[in-house]
Amino acid sequence: SWTTGNVIEEQVAVIREQVGDRRAICGLSGGVDSAVAAALVQKAIGSQLTCVYVDHGLMRKGETEQVEKDFVAATGVQLKVVDAEERFLTALKGVSDPEEKRKIIGREFIRVFEQAQAEIIADAGPEVSFLVQGTLYPDVVESGGGSGTANIKSHHNVGGLPEDLEFELVEPLRKLFKDEVRMVGQELGLPDEIVQRQPFPGPGLGIRIVGEVTKERLDLLREADAIAREELTAAGLDRDIWQCPVVLLADVRSVGVQGDGRTYGHPIVLRPVSSEDAMTADWSRLPYDVLAKISTRITNEVADVNRVVLDVTSKPPGTIEWE
Ligand code: XMP
Repeated sequence: SWTTGNVIEEQVAVIREQVGDRRAICGLSGGVDSAVAAALVQKAIGSQLTCVYVDHGLMRKGETEQVEKDFVAATGVQLKVVDAEERFLTALKGVSDPEEKRKIIGREFIRVFEQAQAEIIADAGPEVSFLVQGTLYPDVVESGGGSGTANIKSHHNVGGLPEDLEFELVEPLRKLFKDEVRMVGQELGLPDEIVQRQPFPGPGLGIRIVGEVTKERLDLLREADAIAREELTAAGLDRDIWQCPVVLLADVRSVGVQGDGRTYGHPIVLRPVSSEDAMTADWSRLPYDVLAKISTRITNEVADVNRVVLDVTSKPPGTIEWE
């Protein structure tokens, strides 16, 4: 029968068998999936694992610090942080197409890992030949890995991999759904702030800007996202919603009025959803006063945003993310 204890025991054995006495690296994204995958592999092979955190500049406010502090404190894992913001922004310059963005981010991610791998080998000696990924069952299915499913989006950890990949993949969560991953994380002793964290896509804010991704737009979206998260947490709603993407419609402007003046700014979309496993979702009926507070704060505090709109589409027909 299915228990978290069984899953952990089984995966630890599988990982030890697969990796042997070689070394693995694992990318931490700040999300639950990669954190639990890393903790599981850490349990299996200990110091043969090195985690790499790629700061691609597409993270939310405070996210890098959370990985550096909370995760390392909880697991004692070896962590290497790579600042790759400029590289990603350069690669994304001029690109608006969602699939192209996803492919670029996935590709650059692997390239940065290859560099990190070379550096880790230089430091550690033995060959690093495994890449740990927090791929879940829904990722496998939605990227066309399941039986007879069409490719909906190239998830950056499945369809976006380049063909000249040098690593063998270790994907201990490949058969699990999100709620199961959380239980496994809890059993592994990870703190609630990590285990109960709402999902966040690997390509980060890069796929929450509809239009070209630039530093200025990212900074703006980071501010709006931080306000929405702060208010949802303050209202005690974190456990009621699955996640709440905050999206910047960078190519859209609308007319507004603030103080004595006309404004011509961008809309921010709130996309709160409830879901069991992200395969389907319903839009969350958030209390109006919470929505009002978020809207007021975003339009007051974030320059160049003069409108906040609510996405009331379920999945299907909408996906959770806008890209
Ligand atoms: P969609 O937009 O397909 O999203 O309804 C379903 C769930 O997956 C997350 N998501 C991703 N997670 N890499 C990830 O690790 C990705 O490329 C990616 N794209 C979407 C999304 O946030 C939602 O929870």
